[in-house]
Amino acid sequence: MRQKLVIGNWKMHGSLAANAALLEGIKAAPARARLAVCAPFPYLAQCQALLNGSQVVWGAQDVSAEARGAFTGEVAASMLGEFGCTYALVGHSERRTYHAETDAVVAAKALRALEFGILPVICVGETLSEREAGQTEVVVGRQLQAVLDALSAEQLGRVVLAYEPVWAIGTGKTATSEQAQAVHAFLRGKVRERDAGVAERMAILYGGSVKPDNAVELFSMSDIDGGLIGGASLKSEDFLAIGNA
Ligand code: 13P
Repeated sequence: MRQKLVIGNWKMHGSLAANAALLEGIKAAPARARLAVCAPFPYLAQCQALLNGSQVVWGAQDVSAEARGAFTGEVAASMLGEFGCTYALVGHSERRTYHAETDAVVAAKALRALEFGILPVICVGETLSEREAGQTEVVVGRQLQAVLDALSAEQLGRVVLAYEPVWAIGTGKTATSEQAQAVHAFLRGKVRERDAGVAERMAILYGGSVKPDNAVELFSMSDIDGGLIGGASLKSEDFLAIGNA
C-alpha cells in the first residue's frame, strides 16, 4: 500500500501573518495522509521555521534547471537543499503556459532537483481542447516520456507525478474519479514499462479543484495516491479535511 500524500500548492498567495495562521492550523491536527505545502520562495524560510519538528514538510513551486550563474530571478536547487526543502513542483501547467516551459526544460529541472536531494513533483495534464480531441493520452504520454528519457530508474524512484488536467485547475470542474483513474493507470503503465518496482511505489497525485467533498471518492481509486491542492490548501480546515479523506 502506498501512503497517501497531499501537497498544498499555495501559488502566488500568502502573507507572513496569513501563512503563520495557516501553518499553525495545519500542524496542530493529525492527518492520515503525509502533508506538504509548496509556498512562494520568500516564505520558504518561514515554512522551515514554523514546520520544524512537525510531521508536515514543505517545498518550492519551481526550481531552476541551471546549477548556478547569471540567471537573474532564478532559484537553484542547491539553495533549496540548504534549507532542507523536501519537494519542488516541476512543470506545473501555469509554468508551462505562462513561462513557456517545454517538456525538455521540465525534465532538466527534475534532474537538477534530484541532484540536490529534492523530490520533484512533476506535473502533467491536457487542456480541454486536447481532451475533446481525444488526445489526453498522447499529451500526458509525451510529457511523461521526456522525464522517462532523462532519468535513470533510481532517479525515477524519487519522483512524484501529478496529473492535473488543465481544464480542472481553479475552475471548480473536477475530473470524475473514473476519468482521473484512467489517466493515472495509463501513467503508471508507462512507468511500469521502464521499471515495475518503481511504478508500484510511485505516488501519482491528482490535482484540479480537489475539495473536501470530492477528495474521498478521488482518493478511493486504486491509482490515485493523493492530491495536489490549490485553492483548498489555503484554508487549514479544508486542507486537513482533504488530508483525512
Ligand atoms: P485548484 O485546486 O485551485 O484547482 O488548483 C490545482 C492546482 O493547480 C494545484 O497545483
